[in-house]
Amino acid sequence: MHCGQLPLDALAKKFGTPLYVYSADEILHRVSLFQKAFADRAHMVCFAVKSNSAVAILELIYQAGAGFDIVSGGELQRVLAVSPEAAKRVVFSGVAKEAWEMDLALDSDIHLFNVESEPELELLGERAKKKKKCARVSFRVNPDVFAETHPYISTGMREHKFGVDFATARRLYRRAAEHKWLEPYGVSVHIGSQIRSADPFGAAVGKIADLLSQLKKEGITLRAIDAGGGLGIEYQLGKKFDPTAEVQRYAKALKSSLKDLDVELLLEPGRFIVAQAGALLSRVVYIKKNGKKTFVITDAGMNDLIRPSLYQAHHEIVPVAPRGRAKKAVDVVGPICETGDFFARDRKLESVEQGELVAVLDAGAYGMTLSSNYNTRPRPAEILVKGKQVRQIRRRETIEDLLAVEEWAGQKKKR
Ligand code: LLP
Repeated sequence: MHCGQLPLDALAKKFGTPLYVYSADEILHRVSLFQKAFADRAHMVCFAVKSNSAVAILELIYQAGAGFDIVSGGELQRVLAVSPEAAKRVVFSGVAKEAWEMDLALDSDIHLFNVESEPELELLGERAKKKKKCARVSFRVNPDVFAETHPYISTGMREHKFGVDFATARRLYRRAAEHKWLEPYGVSVHIGSQIRSADPFGAAVGKIADLLSQLKKEGITLRAIDAGGGLGIEYQLGKKFDPTAEVQRYAKALKSSLKDLDVELLLEPGRFIVAQAGALLSRVVYIKKNGKKTFVITDAGMNDLIRPSLYQAHHEIVPVAPRGRAKKAVDVVGPICETGDFFARDRKLESVEQGELVAVLDAGAYGMTLSSNYNTRPRPAEILVKGKQVRQIRRRETIEDLLAVEEWAGQKKKR
């Protein structure tokens, strides 16, 4: 197996395992799919930084002309590390923005605040007044649209913590319109993640397009619609999946709901851009048999990639050097002391051996960003491949890195 023109086994040898490997070309291709599908209208692709926040990847995406959807001051600092100018393409989402985060965003001249509650609006008004800087505001409305996905990543129903209902939104727009330092600018929506049908996106955008028309009658003219992220991918190998057609279908649904509304369209895709551009490389440490079960124990665990444990997510696992061996049902598990530490259960895989390399596929989104140091495991290195070139964009953590931030008597003496 290769990434770009480089064999994965050579990369594993050079950088060690577990290792996140990303393809720059695939990321750029995915960004361009959105840019092309929406080329006939004013739009900005705002990559969801939470899906993969490696600064080198943000830089790549920025250079392709895209912006960012952020949810914290920390993510904003990552964008600023790319370039102070990049902040101008930032939309700031999230339910618990604090004063320091608002201040940083105001100082950096971000494009838009997606406000999620009345108290948040109050605080933003205060901070903007203090800084004498106008904040462009959009309210995230909860469209009460059902989208089929895992319950943990569905967000667009009334019972979820996100956004405000339509009546509240209208009241808050009037409030913002009266404030000297707040500018009602847009309306936003995000109904969830890993959504495989275009219909719910169309339905949600249709509902907020109606809100826009009502507000216009009340004298509030909005200039942007933020359709959020959420477009899903196919995680199963062998099932038909054409990224170009998927994005076109999505664009068609959105455009038909927008009709001839003359607004800037903001999009916040994360997973669709990076998931399939990345894999987690891991080495088989042991093969263990317990009764009828065979466990393939890898050097990567749930601390490196938690999606299977947390969302029962499916990731394909393949030997890096397939040899057409017979398939056998195995559990692929990590080294962590929890039964929930698995990548696959009762999965038919080509028989692999101790020491062999396997790739956990489609791990470019919500892989590294959800990783942890559980069991005091340093997090993996990340590399970015472009054609024949490879760059380590994050070095592997060391145990010293982990201990350096702690305080205890012995450490004090050392310092
Ligand atoms: N915009 C907002 C406001 C969001 O909350 C999210 C994701 C996105 C955009 C990007 O969604 P995407 O295009 O990546 O689906 N950790 C979970 C996914 C959580 C998604 C949270 N919000 C997973 O691994 O499946």
